Amino acid sequence: MRSGGRGIRFVVVTSNPGKAREFEDLFSRYGLSFRVEPIKTPEIQAMDLRLIAEESALYAYDVLREPVMVEDAGLFIDALGGFPGPFSSYAYKTIGIRGILKLMEGVEDRRARFTSVIAFYTPMIGSVKTFAGEVEGYISYEPRGSGGFGFDPIFIPAEGDGRTFAELSMEEKNRFSHRARAARKFAEWISSIEAISPAYE
Ligand code: IMP
Repeated sequence: MRSGGRGIRFVVVTSNPGKAREFEDLFSRYGLSFRVEPIKTPEIQAMDLRLIAEESALYAYDVLREPVMVEDAGLFIDALGGFPGPFSSYAYKTIGIRGILKLMEGVEDRRARFTSVIAFYTPMIGSVKTFAGEVEGYISYEPRGSGGFGFDPIFIPAEGDGRTFAELSMEEKNRFSHRARAARKFAEWISSIEAISPAYE
């Protein structure tokens, strides 16, 4: 359990160690109290990351009965009509980075974006609350770097210096990643919710 003295406790539910590390770094800056549970939540089939994240949060709450935060993220490639988008996890496991680069062979328009949607739920807030973040960038021509996870070796953020996410340190990625942007919104919101705090002391 991370403890920052605010008394707010929630569970970050993710089976992805890369995501867990990034959230730990991001939330530690806000002094939030949380722990990570590596539970795999089922992903409903939907085109909208928000819906997927909301359903995952409700599932995670049913299992844990504690305030839960889940995230659903995806890589949207313009030239592929937004593919893999909500199917990013499946695409990563099946065709992988090589498969995406193959689909992009001969394609000049390399524009893409990562989107992250964080969903938070506890019955005390009534319904699931969501927070979204995005980062624009380009698909590289070859994989570069060994940091991060998933599609990081082929994503060059437009705000960076030409390095892929996998060539950045986690601190650098956390300056402007999709996840960092959604996490910042969530952290600011939950920091302002003093009302739910006492119940979890
Ligand atoms: P998930 O469904 O939110 O777990 O994410 C879907 C897939 O998108 C993951 O399996 C990763 O391959 C990819 N992905 C999500 N976020 C990132 C990221 O920050 N960097 C690289 N790949 C990511």
